[in-house]
Amino acid sequence: MTDRSVAVLAGGLSHEREVSLRSGRRLAAALRESGVDVREWDVDSSLVTQLRTDPPDAVVIALHGGEGENGSVQAVLELLDVPFVGTAAQACRRAWDKPTAKAELAGAGLDTPDWVALPHSTFRALGAQAVLDAMVDRLGLPLMLKPDQGGSALGAQVVTDRSEMPAAMVSCLAYSDTVLAERFVRGTEVAVTVVNDGPELRALPAVEIDARGGVYDYTARYTPGTVAFHCPARLDDATQARLAETALAAHRLLGLRDVSRMDAVVDEEGRVQVLEVNVSPGITETSLLPMAVRAAGMDLGRLYSALVERAIARSRFT
Ligand SMILES: Nc1ncnc2c1ncn2[C@@H]1O[C@H](COP(=O)(O)OP(=O)(O)O)[C@@H](O)[C@H]1O
Ligand SMILES: [Mg+2]
Repeated sequence: MTDRSVAVLAGGLSHEREVSLRSGRRLAAALRESGVDVREWDVDSSLVTQLRTDPPDAVVIALHGGEGENGSVQAVLELLDVPFVGTAAQACRRAWDKPTAKAELAGAGLDTPDWVALPHSTFRALGAQAVLDAMVDRLGLPLMLKPDQGGSALGAQVVTDRSEMPAAMVSCLAYSDTVLAERFVRGTEVAVTVVNDGPELRALPAVEIDARGGVYDYTARYTPGTVAFHCPARLDDATQARLAETALAAHRLLGLRDVSRMDAVVDEEGRVQVLEVNVSPGITETSLLPMAVRAAGMDLGRLYSALVERAIARSRFT
């Protein structure tokens, strides 16, 4: 038994509420198994009062999409001086906004698919058809259209024909105000989790995602059996080493803390093309982080309880 009390925040009102509740449940169970006293809190208007009247020793955020990833909940925890596992508010904001994060990574020399990001207002002002045509001319087909902020592949689409662009744009705009168009990368999709193992930052074995010819979309993600996973990925040692190096570099460049997950595609030339870096990776039964933790011979509950100790120690010095 540690004598720590931890609040796991899950739920909230984002599009990924259901996924978050599953992540929270899984994480809470793992922490309890390592002897931590866990409370599970949904995120609603009672949160600030709860944190003030009955503060836990630390918070673990299992929220996905919206407030839990864009830095808002983190900013509130910083405001209230509550220690929490994970990245500080400002860096969350940077990682959450895909075009901002991509620019940062590309600027430092990492590969990320060529892209264009434009807000709704530009499509309206300049005429959607002309702008969409220019995107296709620049990025080629197929291309990927996705909301600039979001998760679980919600709103993300592969466009294979010019005529599909307007509908794909509208579906992105249902999730976000800005559309991110990206060159489609063929190759092997992978996810690399980075964690602090004590003071050392460590990249866990890459998980290969074989969506059987399709993309790793929302249904594929949360329906067991629709996707085949391989961990470690079926890639040669040099590529695995490059993946680890890239995930660590991305974590550091974006100023992330404790835990992150890089989503990437190893393209046909063997280059690691970074799609995004998540500050609050999924922890459900079918999520990638628990697979990587298992493959590394680590225990989820012990890992997170060590991260809780890091968060508490950090708060004593700031
Ligand atoms: N440029 C791309 N090329 C190929 N596939 C992509 C590309 N961008 C996204 N995808 C596919 O769409 C999924 C979701 O994209 P991602 O950028 O990771 O956003 P999300 O935040 O929704 O997870 C990826 O897991 C991948 O299967
Ligand atoms: Mg992703």
